[in-house]
Amino acid sequence: MIVQQNVSIKHLNTFGIDFKVDNYVIIDTMQVLKTLSEEKKLLKHKIQVGGGSNILCVEEQLHATLIHNQLKGKKVIKETEAHVWVEVMAGEKWHDFVLYAIENNWGGVENLSLIPGTVGAAPIQNIGAYGVEVGTCVEEVRAWNWNDKELLKFKKDDCKFGYRTSVFKEKWKQKILITSVVFKLDKQHHFNTTYGAITQELEKMGISTLSIKAISDAVTSIRKSKLPNPEELGNAGSFFKNPTIKISHFKELQKEHTLIPSYTLDAQHVKVPAGWLIEQCGWKGKKIGACGVHKDQALVIVNYGKASGNDIYQLSESIIQDVQSKFNILLEREVQILSNRLF
Ligand code: EPU
Repeated sequence: MIVQQNVSIKHLNTFGIDFKVDNYVIIDTMQVLKTLSEEKKLLKHKIQVGGGSNILCVEEQLHATLIHNQLKGKKVIKETEAHVWVEVMAGEKWHDFVLYAIENNWGGVENLSLIPGTVGAAPIQNIGAYGVEVGTCVEEVRAWNWNDKELLKFKKDDCKFGYRTSVFKEKWKQKILITSVVFKLDKQHHFNTTYGAITQELEKMGISTLSIKAISDAVTSIRKSKLPNPEELGNAGSFFKNPTIKISHFKELQKEHTLIPSYTLDAQHVKVPAGWLIEQCGWKGKKIGACGVHKDQALVIVNYGKASGNDIYQLSESIIQDVQSKFNILLEREVQILSNRLF
């Protein structure tokens, strides 16, 4: 096991923010994981990352050990006429796995094309896009328990998947490291084109026969047109979650804002797109110093190059305050904030 000290993490967070960590360890074998488990001092304050696509560090130096999950590999563990079960190691890039599934003609994850990050990070916040959440095709999550030093297996129901959440973000946060995910994929495809933009994109592309490849291409094209590529412009995708509000509150808001969009959740609640709320507050495309709100998607905060984590955090605070005072809705950050104060 190699422990590096005072390492810059600029390359390991998609915001491209230059911050350092006291210790940095790459986990690329189960043996390294076991060795690290014995190092109580190193594990006292730990941060676990895969692709760093959902973190914002507000410190110049984080007094912690950053554990970089780079466990790699994929294997088919079971197959029937209708399904295939594939175990994918946590450090694999999410989109590489999606492409691998499509190449093999296995359906289920095509709507989740081009999402940044790793396979191990996907179940933590139950990544979702274009009408599909990863939880629907997760069969099992395998994870290392730091305390008991043993491998745990979480069946789908144990994961308690919700909108951008799971037990890995709540009860088991920091207590485990996801080592692999078992996906149940479909050999007979069920296309999900409920999200209007997909149908429009398929028409634009002139595709009349649906396939998982066509859906993946359509999703890739929509994402490229709306969401900035973190390799060109630092960002972490949606910075906030879409908030859930009571129908009574929504009806009140509708009186003044007749065009307010919503998705019905149940008899009492609706979800409102945070991007719309932020845009209505005049933030879309606004630049504050070295960071700002993206011009095509108000849910995305971007780093124009030299922003600090704190600059971005302060910008997000201003957005939260404006949305709160205009709509009486409290936005919640989707991005995980890293700060020494949290240890
Ligand atoms: N909208 C605006 N202004 C904006 C952005 C959006 O008015 O600047 C409106 C749109 O017109 C539309 C609605 O908000 O009526 C929804 O917009 P969009 O389809 O772009 O989706 P979203 O709700 O903003 C969510 C996810 C994305 C995911 C898309 C597509 C969250 C927090 N975000 O965004 O996920 O790609 O749906 O399924 O749920 C991510 O989590 O990082 C992410 C990018």
